[in-house]
Amino acid sequence: MKGWLITNAFLHTHKFTEIHLWLTEAAKKVGVELIVKTNAEVLVKLDSDFNTVKEVNSDDNPDFVLFWDKDVRLAQYLEMKGFRVFNSSKGIAVCDDKSLTHLYLQGAGIVMPKTIVAPMTFTNIGYNNLDFLSQIEKELSFPIVIKECFGSFGQQVYLVANKQELRTKTAEIGAKPMLFQEFIPSSKGKDLRLQVVGNQVVAAMYRYSEDGDFRANITNGGKMKPYEPNQKQIDLAIKCCKVLGLDFAGVDILFGKNMEPLVCEVNSNAHFKNIYDCTGINVADSILAYIIKRICIGCK
Ligand SMILES: Nc1ncnc2c1ncn2[C@@H]1O[C@H](COP(=O)(O)OP(=O)(O)O)[C@@H](O)[C@H]1O
Ligand SMILES: [Mg+2]
Repeated sequence: MKGWLITNAFLHTHKFTEIHLWLTEAAKKVGVELIVKTNAEVLVKLDSDFNTVKEVNSDDNPDFVLFWDKDVRLAQYLEMKGFRVFNSSKGIAVCDDKSLTHLYLQGAGIVMPKTIVAPMTFTNIGYNNLDFLSQIEKELSFPIVIKECFGSFGQQVYLVANKQELRTKTAEIGAKPMLFQEFIPSSKGKDLRLQVVGNQVVAAMYRYSEDGDFRANITNGGKMKPYEPNQKQIDLAIKCCKVLGLDFAGVDILFGKNMEPLVCEVNSNAHFKNIYDCTGINVADSILAYIIKRICIGCK
């Protein structure tokens, strides 16, 4: 069996290349040839002769595509060509944008912190009027969490303590899509990461910060411990993946007032090095085993 591992041509940090290596190693172990292709090698080419039957040169045709990138146009193109893409273009797109994730999950009745999406503006205009912030202040009490809709590792997530900080941070983020969210004090500096593959939680960890930061991300200095999730937490993580149509994902869960699980965000391309260091579970192996199973079902 042969697959393509689609990666981003312009991201070269160790964090990403390491994940690519883990995936190709996991493939090797189960006899799958996983060929790395970047999004600059496989371009989206559209014309009047567009052929929806598979690609390019037939020898090179993969049996599946493992899409470890956010280039959702390319993912959709490959789907149009008839390839089975893991995760789907829609799943990746909805997870990439935190506001869309919340919209879809709310639509399925999944519990989350109260969330208000900033009105959209244009890059060349930005917010020339911040009056809408008075609604945010009325609906949410300080401190308020602000998240850029596109961000990761806790780096685009902020906590503002008062009106002035709210205005300053909103103006600073400018035209980038963002959302405002109720701060969950019972989850300050701690959360859960549940890794789901094929409707099963395969690994879980508890993350906590020791330096007073409200964010528990490991990249942001958080610590981690293996964790045995309860049924409610498992059900929530699996339901999120079902609703968003994800084959696998890292689901971040907050602890509500009465310890009830609240969804924080869903990562379609979750890094799994930390969860391996924490639990010894290699998520790459689970992903490859799942893909083989899906492809083989598809073959019959
Ligand atoms: N509403 C919230 N209340 C309390 N803590 C939060 C809230 N939202 C996020 N956090 C903390 O911030 C971290 C980063 O937020 P998250 O939405 O997961 O963004 P990222 O994509 O950067 O990981 C979470 O892991 C959690 O520890
Ligand atoms: Mg997160």
